Amino acid sequence: MSKNNRDFFKQKKIWSEVKDELLGCYLVPYFNKMMSMSKPILYVDCFAGKGKFDDGKNGSPLTALDSLDRSIAQYRTAHPYGEFTPEVYMQFIELNHAKDLVANLANQPMGRCEIIEGKFEDNIIPLLQNANKRYRNLNVFLYVDPYGVKVLNAALFDSLPTAFSTAELLINLNSFGFIREACRVMKVTFREREDEIFSDIEEYDSSVMDSIAELNAIAGGDYWHSIITDYSKGTIDCYQAEKAFSMQYKLRLRQKYNYVLDMPIRLKAGQHPKYRLVHATNHPDGCTLMADNIAKRTDRLVIEIQSGGQLSLIPQTAENERIDDNVLEEKVRRLLSTTTEFTRLNKFLAGFYNEYGVLCDLSRLCSGRSGSILKTFEKNGEILVSRNPACTDKRKPTKFWQEGKGNTLMLRRKRL
Ligand SMILES: C[S@@+](CC[C@H](N)C(=O)[O-])C[C@H]1O[C@@H](n2cnc3c(N)ncnc32)[C@H](O)[C@@H]1O
Repeated sequence: MSKNNRDFFKQKKIWSEVKDELLGCYLVPYFNKMMSMSKPILYVDCFAGKGKFDDGKNGSPLTALDSLDRSIAQYRTAHPYGEFTPEVYMQFIELNHAKDLVANLANQPMGRCEIIEGKFEDNIIPLLQNANKRYRNLNVFLYVDPYGVKVLNAALFDSLPTAFSTAELLINLNSFGFIREACRVMKVTFREREDEIFSDIEEYDSSVMDSIAELNAIAGGDYWHSIITDYSKGTIDCYQAEKAFSMQYKLRLRQKYNYVLDMPIRLKAGQHPKYRLVHATNHPDGCTLMADNIAKRTDRLVIEIQSGGQLSLIPQTAENERIDDNVLEEKVRRLLSTTTEFTRLNKFLAGFYNEYGVLCDLSRLCSGRSGSILKTFEKNGEILVSRNPACTDKRKPTKFWQEGKGNTLMLRRKRL
């Protein structure tokens, strides 16, 4: 086991690529949406790294800057005649590799981004406070990609949605690392062989937690105690403990963020996840977008990485479950049973993903060209659908099943 992170930036590993793809693909429409509503954005990469891996591949700061370029280009194409100065503040915090980061971002235009050399723990609160004083109606996005869990701070995450106009988080949660430390602090023997469980984690967190209070501050409560007690009694194994902890962590975040999703990153089916990427937002459009993004990255993870390129007839989720259409239909019907008032499609979809997890991409639920569950329900008269615009330029009824670009769709269950 690599007991330090010396080699992390030598070569960009496949799981880091999936992580950056998830970030980069989400940020383009996120920036677009905020810019189209003239909303200022504060983007903070809290553990920014070197900017580039030694093999020349971009790290998360360049991924985010690239997404911003793509968003601005799309915006300019859509609004060719307007004056446009995007209000986007890009901040990168890095403790150990700030000099490399400066060198790797040297080609960026002056003033485009700021690098803060130092610890996340010392810098994040002053940074957020200053930004809050300086800019009105700020929308904050924090990318939190540390080596371990020690620096995660539930109280900070809780405070953002009330302090800012909107707040979103993408957190790399090393949930196994938390379980290991929780066992140590609660003096419970970690039964599994650590060198097997943690063998390929290069983001190794050598720091140790000192107390239960410290772990409570990371987790945002003491809900994890009973999980460790169950583990100590042998009622659950460490895989179940990790799953239970991640589930509770998401539920806890939902006290302040309506929609919380996660994507476990596994290199082999059935193996423990290296970590989970947890996304939290209060906006249904953000949740829907991230869910579709997770589903697409999952295809890559499962097909290209876990199955050596083998396609399967029924796609798998990131939890390696195969969900056939009957199961999806049953879950959509269950959600529809409480959808008695007209509800925005994206809100309905976000509710689905929030409740059941990312079981499939949007095409299977609604937008699939060759059909989808909601299209079938509309045809069968199980739901009522109201679209705006209702007609095309040629005065034909519109049939879209995706919101955005001025199209909105409301749906509800047909009353019995
Ligand atoms: C997992 S790496 C981040 C990789 C980066 N997100 C990327 O994809 O290119 C974690 C980074 O956090 C930095 N780091 C470690 N402790 C830190 C702290 N307390 N505050 C800020 N940065 C820290 C490390 O030097 C390392 O570059």
